Amino acid sequence: MAHIVLLAVVCVLCSLETQGSSAVAIVFVQKGKDLHLDVNKPVVLGEYDEFRWRVSDTHNVVRLFPDNTTRIVDPYKGRVEFSVQNHSLLLKNVQHSDSGDYTALITGDKNQRVAEYKVIIQVVVCVLCSWQTHGSSAVTTVFVQKGKNLHLDVHKPVVLGEDTEFSWTYNNTHNVVRLFNDKRTKISDSYKRRVEFSVQNHSLILKNVQHSDSGDYTALIIGDNIQQVAEYKVIIQDPVSPVQLSVNSVSNSTDSCNLTVTCSTEDSLINSTFRCDNQTCNQEGGEQSEVTTSGSSLRVYLFNGSIICNHSNQVSWIRDKEEIRLLCSATAGTNLGIAAGIGIGAAVLFCLVLGCLIIYQKCFGHQSGPNQNDPEDASGRSFNFTIPLAVLPTATVHFETETDN
Ligand SMILES: *[C@@H]1O[C@H](CO)[C@@H](O)[C@H](O)[C@H]1NC(C)=O
Ligand SMILES: *[C@@H]1O[C@H](CO)[C@@H](O)[C@H](O)[C@H]1NC(C)=O
Ligand SMILES: *[C@@H]1O[C@H](CO)[C@@H](O)[C@H](O)[C@H]1NC(C)=O
Ligand SMILES: *[C@@H]1O[C@H](CO)[C@@H](O)[C@H](O)[C@H]1NC(C)=O
Ligand SMILES: *[C@@H]1O[C@H](CO)[C@@H](O)[C@H](O)[C@H]1NC(C)=O
Ligand SMILES: *[C@@H]1O[C@H](CO)[C@@H](O)[C@H](O)[C@H]1NC(C)=O
Ligand SMILES: *[C@@H]1O[C@H](CO)[C@@H](O)[C@H](O)[C@H]1NC(C)=O
Ligand SMILES: *[C@@H]1O[C@H](CO)[C@@H](O)[C@H](O)[C@H]1NC(C)=O
Ligand SMILES: *[C@@H]1O[C@H](CO)[C@@H](O)[C@H](O)[C@H]1NC(C)=O
Ligand SMILES: *[C@@H]1O[C@H](CO)[C@@H](O)[C@H](O)[C@H]1NC(C)=O
Repeated sequence: MAHIVLLAVVCVLCSLETQGSSAVAIVFVQKGKDLHLDVNKPVVLGEYDEFRWRVSDTHNVVRLFPDNTTRIVDPYKGRVEFSVQNHSLLLKNVQHSDSGDYTALITGDKNQRVAEYKVIIQVVVCVLCSWQTHGSSAVTTVFVQKGKNLHLDVHKPVVLGEDTEFSWTYNNTHNVVRLFNDKRTKISDSYKRRVEFSVQNHSLILKNVQHSDSGDYTALIIGDNIQQVAEYKVIIQDPVSPVQLSVNSVSNSTDSCNLTVTCSTEDSLINSTFRCDNQTCNQEGGEQSEVTTSGSSLRVYLFNGSIICNHSNQVSWIRDKEEIRLLCSATAGTNLGIAAGIGIGAAVLFCLVLGCLIIYQKCFGHQSGPNQNDPEDASGRSFNFTIPLAVLPTATVHFETETDN
């Protein structure tokens, strides 16, 4: 006796876990006896609707069509009585294999549950609670950026026999689109205007997705049995927020340069230190990363001589970067001193070169230019010169001048 009570408690927990919301009645039936199940709400069928008693998401016991025809599914023939008047189900001579979740459903645009029972045939051990995830096909997780389109395909051929329909179902509660065996399709009212469905390959496009579209999408062939031909877990994400890489300190000597930086986004930040010698730079502790409160990832790392601050999630990324060579040389000497020096030097050099050019032009007229027609040469002139720097082998400064000829 205690044994059965314990069992009941465990099973109540199981059922709470599976269906948070609607009340699930637990029914114990002795093997060989009859099972009576009633609906709890009135059943009214619309033109495209169907009523059914379903077992454990995998198959139906009985189906009622809008024209009041009923169909008792093969394995149940002979031991089921169904009332068209009050929609109650009577299953005779139950066996252990009849244990499961019995749901009375009206399928239209939404799947409306009008009754739900967890049926346990006598002393069935509740290990069976794990059947809830009767995990046939693999679930694919899909991330989509808010406002973009969601594309879903089926993984198995879809062949619709008599009294069979195909549907893309959201969270097991809403039928996004239904395809009947006469090739009619019905897109649920709440999805009209933003769904494209291909009758040829059964793929679904849901446009301009919002956070409220996150959830489970399953493609089902619903006849006497329910076959799942695709299952996706869809997660809608916002694009990531901007990042900022700021340099806190630069210290340099003739053969090394050390930097500390902060890579930050609105809700998190990472500090990191970089040490460079003659040839190479290293990040103290290697790449630094953090998962932000919104689940995105913030990373700071070295790439191609630059410090990269990258904020990314599954649908987008954004970065800020600083070139180490420039940071180190900019603080050479009395911090801004040499930077200013280079600036002034460059300006003087620029004037000198420009002066030379003008004189050259005056003295030698037009004979000079072998490349007069070269557009590059006509639009500008470039000069490259190299300033030796201690930290890195070379730093190249590139100047471009605009001339009017
Ligand atoms: C189906 O049967 C119910 C109950 O007998 C009745 O109320 C309803 O009008 C019938 N519907 C059709 C379409 O015959
Ligand atoms: C429904 O109808 C069946 C047979 O018509 C009857 O046995 C059963 O008691 C009824 N159930 C309810 C809840 O009225
Ligand atoms: C299915 O058909 C639609 C439109 O006809 C097309 O855009 C989509 O790429 C197809 N998908 C596959 C997997 O063939
Ligand atoms: C659908 O399911 C997801 C995940 O299980 C949940 O976050 C979401 O609120 C559900 N949406 C609706 C409308 O029930
Ligand atoms: C950079 O850090 C290294 C290791 O701590 C140190 O040996 C070196 O002197 C530092 N260089 C500068 C310019 O601060
Ligand atoms: C990061 O560095 C900044 C500036 O040096 C400092 O104010 C801050 O406290 C540091 N934050 C962490 C988490 O180390
Ligand atoms: C820096 O480079 C010079 C020559 O390129 C070399 O002699 C010296 O050992 C290097 N110093 C370090 C710390 O690697
Ligand atoms: C590395 O940086 C140099 C200049 O800083 C740039 O020209 C080159 O394209 C970069 N390489 C990659 C793979 O980004
Ligand atoms: C930023 O991170 C994302 C995700 O890891 C990656 O796809 C992207 O290429 C990275 N961007 C840069 C500039 O490294
Ligand atoms: C580092 O600073 C020294 C002066 O303190 C300067 O001579 C040197 O050029 C700087 N190094 C670099 C790479 O700019």
